[in-house]
Amino acid sequence: MEQRTRESFGSRFAVIMAMAGSAIGLGNIWRFPYMTGRYGGAAFILVYVATSFLLALPIMLSETIIGRRSRSNTFGAMENLAPGTRWKWLGLLTVLSPMLILSYYSVVGGWSVEYLLKSCMQDFVRADSGEVASMFGSFISSAWPPVIMHTVFLLMVAGIVLAGVKSGIERFTKLTMPVLFVLIVLMLVYSVSLPGARKGIMYLVKPDFSRLTAEAVAAAMGQSFFSLSLGVGTMLTYASYIRKDENIFASGVGTAVSDMAFALLAGFAVMPAVFAGGIEPGAGPGLVFETLPFIFNKIGASMPWLGTAISVIFFITILVAALTSAISMMEVGTAYLVEEKHMNRFGAVAVIFCFVWAAGLLCSLSFGPLSHVRIFGNGIFDFLDKLCSNFLMTFGGLLFTVFAGWKMKTSDVRDEFTNGGTIRSNEFWFKTVYFLIRYVAPAAIVMIFVTNLIID
Ligand code: PFF
Repeated sequence: MEQRTRESFGSRFAVIMAMAGSAIGLGNIWRFPYMTGRYGGAAFILVYVATSFLLALPIMLSETIIGRRSRSNTFGAMENLAPGTRWKWLGLLTVLSPMLILSYYSVVGGWSVEYLLKSCMQDFVRADSGEVASMFGSFISSAWPPVIMHTVFLLMVAGIVLAGVKSGIERFTKLTMPVLFVLIVLMLVYSVSLPGARKGIMYLVKPDFSRLTAEAVAAAMGQSFFSLSLGVGTMLTYASYIRKDENIFASGVGTAVSDMAFALLAGFAVMPAVFAGGIEPGAGPGLVFETLPFIFNKIGASMPWLGTAISVIFFITILVAALTSAISMMEVGTAYLVEEKHMNRFGAVAVIFCFVWAAGLLCSLSFGPLSHVRIFGNGIFDFLDKLCSNFLMTFGGLLFTVFAGWKMKTSDVRDEFTNGGTIRSNEFWFKTVYFLIRYVAPAAIVMIFVTNLIID
């Protein structure tokens, strides 16, 4: 195997913060609460937690094992571990898919920049619920303001990635991830103390199994998938920066647990406020942007500064969470261009920036001037979101588990998992995890895939 001098994360804390930084993002704060609202509250959460361990964790470990074993970008990993085979297409696909995700993710990242600025300027104070909702509608459907914010967001992402793995990604995630937990706990404390919050809490803890349809189960699996950034090579690429003496099972479990804990905290920070404000919990993707600013200000009506402060804290949380995820997506392509195309880091980041910016431009305009463009009945933004989260991520995840479970030698997988047999406790877990990787995860992914195909 080719050996290169590559950067590595400095400690286990750094590894978990970077991987959790990728995992914790809009998926936790923006997507998780409205999916829970749509699919039956606590029943959905139970399936989500179970699948995070039984399905998502094995896929994450597959990517981690491949990444650290090859110490390479996604394409190089396939060329290292299965030279001259068609597996290189998986490597190439997973260079492309995070860039596609980043293009629309960055548009939503731009919305959070705008909402942070709006909160700081107290734009929501005294607006009624209709006005807040129409503010959102007119902002996203306008031509340039969302494009400018998308550009600002993407420039921040590029700046961090340009600084490198250790001085950029590691430093930023180590600094911001603990702060993120503090901010979401602050939000939660405020939210559950509101009059009428009890209903929201009950909604999250009392399961309604009658709403747990096949679609809801597939959605819960899809949520754990999206939330842990699986199937698109981000975990693989980050794992390639994990030192050989690090325990990847412990890092993987640490990441999955942090991600899940954050999603639950976000659920308890958002839902009680939603109920306290008398809003429908299944309000959909607009929940966070269309309704929360109104709720914060309604609640803070007697003390406008409090409503403003909470709103600012909330949108800082969303923005930082989106940034730590977005950098992981940009790093995948950057590592590929630097290692395979021998570009310097600046050139690589510039190329990816241009591609993602242009694709993001189309996504952003698809809410306004390009709303007439339909691809298979969807607008550009929705089409990309569906293509990536329902198909590319699941397809990539399936192939990564098949690669780790069936293509790699069992002895190599075990060797990575137990650091050459030196971590005794991992020897104990190996059989279970390997079974999940080989049989359970691929079967479950095929099920999600087929369900999504039928639903769409
Ligand atoms: N896990 C991120 C979130 O929950 O917001 C989304 C994500 C990040 C998806 C990185 C894919 C990815 F490669």
